[in-house]
Amino acid sequence: MRLGIFGTGYAGLVTSVCLAELGHTVTAVDKDPDIVATLSQGQSTIHEPGLPELLVNNIKAGRLKFTTRSEDAIAGSDIIFVCVGTPPRSDGRADLCQVEEVARTIAPLLDGYKLVVEKSTVPARTARWISWTIRRLAGPEAEFDVASNPEFLREGTAVRDFLQPDRIVIGADSGRARSLLLDLYRPNFDCPIVLTSVTTAELIKQTANAFLAAKISFINVMSDLCETLGVDVATVARGIGLDPRIGGQFLNAGLGFGGSCLPKDLSALIKVAEENGVDSGMLKEVQRINSARVERLLSKLETALWVVRHKVVAVLGVAFKANTDDIRGATSLTVVPWLRAAGANLRVYDPAAMQKLEALYPPDDHLMYAQSACEAARGAHALVILTDWDEFRSLDLERLRSLMRTPIVIDGRNLFTPAKMQAAGFEYYSLGHGDVAPSVETQRIAP
Ligand code: UDX
Repeated sequence: MRLGIFGTGYAGLVTSVCLAELGHTVTAVDKDPDIVATLSQGQSTIHEPGLPELLVNNIKAGRLKFTTRSEDAIAGSDIIFVCVGTPPRSDGRADLCQVEEVARTIAPLLDGYKLVVEKSTVPARTARWISWTIRRLAGPEAEFDVASNPEFLREGTAVRDFLQPDRIVIGADSGRARSLLLDLYRPNFDCPIVLTSVTTAELIKQTANAFLAAKISFINVMSDLCETLGVDVATVARGIGLDPRIGGQFLNAGLGFGGSCLPKDLSALIKVAEENGVDSGMLKEVQRINSARVERLLSKLETALWVVRHKVVAVLGVAFKANTDDIRGATSLTVVPWLRAAGANLRVYDPAAMQKLEALYPPDDHLMYAQSACEAARGAHALVILTDWDEFRSLDLERLRSLMRTPIVIDGRNLFTPAKMQAAGFEYYSLGHGDVAPSVETQRIAP
């Protein structure tokens, strides 16, 4: 098929490259000429394992091209995917300006029947607005449908998630739209296909992310209880996760959920519920629990250091999660300014995301960007772990301890266990394990 893609961010670029890889002819549009030029040269604009090779191969095969001209993506296309951003507005609602702009762009360029498909995460009933906008601008004779085909891509595994999905959700309200999308997916995928209405498909996407967020906040509440009971939350998570009705994934307690999706989709769903007169209390509680995680971590850091001012603090992890360079919604965006305001001297390291933080917080006398975890730890009074990189799990603890001025680790992602850290001679604070730390009364105040 000939496919047009609007938007070359995480969802749009992965969708473009993977659909081309499946043999379709893909024309992807972005308003930013620099992004179009970079991608056209075969350079990926995002950090996604497997993407660079597919990008180059499909450009070379002539199945994939990038352009700033919308007409190139519409003329002759069978399906047009809307993959533009839907960032949160200040009130939490999804900002649909980019979606509306694509609808306005498509309308005058329709050259025969088109299927316009929402791939971006949008509030329920957005398709109606897209349809209304196109109809209003293209006139009563225009032939088109609007469908929903949400993506369930995780950053760091997006290519695999696209090519090996758990399920495909197709929301279509006409037989023609349904058939086109089934023709697109059936030949290459044998996973379950959920065929439903457009509004249902829109809601499935937001509900999926809100549930994932709820699962994380639930285990984080249990994590706090585990700390007070001196119980290991990871064992509790394993004990409940073996029940297939619960499942073991997304039960890692710690600093909670960040990223560009879960927080914004949860906020947007809260607004959809409120606008439709449905109590959003449970969803708001998921948000509240999540936003309290970093405060809990910083409170442990203050307990461990007593005085933060002038202390050297190593920060391991800038990305919102491992295997990505994305810092949107990352805990580091709260912890770094907090430590700077508290007068600490920061030594920051992340395997992939440091450049993006440097753009916000350039190095200065109180902030240096290290080239390794050990360099960050050198001379540190405390080390804070914010991202669950495997590289941090395999740190040489003996070497780390020898480099630090005081062996204090605040582990926001529970990468280690109290027993292991105590054996290595660390004061160890985590979220859900109970702390291995000398009480102030017995260790510091005694003469
Ligand atoms: C998420 C959804 O998983 C994906 O289906 C959707 O399409 C986009 O949003 P992503 O934002 O890339 O994907 O990251 P994800 O792997 O879901 O992690 C989100 C956040 O939750 C991260 O900050 C991660 O650290 C945190 N998390 C994840 C936990 O705190 N505990 C867990 O057990 C899992």
